[in-house]
Amino acid sequence: MKLWQVRRHWDGLAKVDPFFAVLTDPGKQGNKWAIEEFFKTGVLEVGRDLERIEALSAGFRRVSALDFGCGAGRLTQALGRYFERATGIDISGHMVELAKAHNTQRGVTFVHNTRADLALFGEGQYDLVYSRITLQHIAPRYTERYLGEFVRVLAPGGMLSVQVPERVPVGDPPDRFRFSVWPPTLVMRAKRYVRYHYPGWFPDTPKMQMYALPRTAVVGFLEKAGADILAVDPSEHGDVENLVYIARKRGPAPRQG
Ligand SMILES: C[S@@+](CC[C@H](N)C(=O)[O-])C[C@H]1O[C@@H](n2cnc3c(N)ncnc32)[C@H](O)[C@@H]1O
Repeated sequence: MKLWQVRRHWDGLAKVDPFFAVLTDPGKQGNKWAIEEFFKTGVLEVGRDLERIEALSAGFRRVSALDFGCGAGRLTQALGRYFERATGIDISGHMVELAKAHNTQRGVTFVHNTRADLALFGEGQYDLVYSRITLQHIAPRYTERYLGEFVRVLAPGGMLSVQVPERVPVGDPPDRFRFSVWPPTLVMRAKRYVRYHYPGWFPDTPKMQMYALPRTAVVGFLEKAGADILAVDPSEHGDVENLVYIARKRGPAPRQG
């Protein structure tokens, strides 16, 4: 899936049932997430994740954090409790607008970015780059580049905590539409294609394509970009085999304060 398709896809989902598109709890479909409950999940998640990072790199600087694929800002706002500044970035303009509208946290900003890189951020700007349930929706050719960008925007000594699936569920829809001359198969594939690429037309089925990357590949990209891997943990997210990579950018850390 190309990035413009990803953007269109998420814009469609954001218009219809945005909180459920982010956290697909079956009982919450049809705009049933209570806003407070939704954002509370982010507070719990970020609290746990920061404890883990702190255990691996005690006293790492907490001035600025970047949340890649911020959606409605569930995790960005939570990061804002711990960092002076937290930036949420997302490919969907609708998600960014939603995140801004629901933000209650000082020091938190949201940025719309449709590029395959993070060129709008300078080198060494962040103390933490964080990403959850996002890279699993991005084709590996883009993820590879984003991983390099995450390390670039980190300050030396800065921490990275990103979740990437190692395997996707069996039977996930293929990326390409394959033509068939057998009419029933053709119709079935055409329906699946339209449903997948125009999710806004089918509000009841927010199906998102899933991608995975082998652990050796993720570790290789991060190390090549200049980070040391501190841990690879199992992630709590979803029906896929997910891993959380925690890494530190090489180089002397700037002083706190
Ligand atoms: C499942 S939501 C997760 C949102 C947030 N991380 C959370 O856990 O609450 C995935 C988000 O990633 C965003 N996204 C997908 N591809 C992206 C890309 N290439 N760059 C930035 N955001 C992207 C989508 O627009 C969507 O808002």
